Amino acid sequence: MLKKHPHFHIQELRGIIGHIITDKDFRKLQAHRHHMFFNRYEHLLNASFFAYQLARLFRADLEVCALAGLLHDYHFTTLKSYSHAVIAAKNAKRFDVSDEIIEIVQSHMYPLGRSKIKRAHGRNFWVVKIADFSAAFFEISYSILFLQFQHDRIKLKRTHLLMEMAEEFEQKNEKDK
Ligand SMILES: [Fe+2]
Ligand SMILES: [Fe+2]
Repeated sequence: MLKKHPHFHIQELRGIIGHIITDKDFRKLQAHRHHMFFNRYEHLLNASFFAYQLARLFRADLEVCALAGLLHDYHFTTLKSYSHAVIAAKNAKRFDVSDEIIEIVQSHMYPLGRSKIKRAHGRNFWVVKIADFSAAFFEISYSILFLQFQHDRIKLKRTHLLMEMAEEFEQKNEKDK
């Protein structure tokens, strides 16, 4: 039997989200703090990775979940209410993603704003909800646990791999200029 490369899943995930995580505007999210010692870009990479893994587990749509997980907090505001989800959905349209992804992004704060925005339904929506929650839980617990240590070193191994890829891409782009 053919053995899968140990990074098979991360490579597949890169194939789905690579064009977004290397996007100049999207990378500006690194300047925004999110969940204590993490930045918003990292939170979105974590959420996308969790959404992708959960989608495998629950047989949801890998591409929809990974992309909605990645874009769900694509905004540059400090808004905590559901309105940041509406802004993120508007920004996500830049990447020409499906209506389902936009709907999931827009309603990821459900039940907040439930009377004002149309909510996405189904398995993909719940996968992204759980992924967002898991990423937030991971980030906040790590920030608290390692408060006094080198918090800049606390990253998911997968997040490291994706960030390395985005950096390689940027260096290559600069060389080509
Ligand atoms: Fe959010
Ligand atoms: Fe989030």
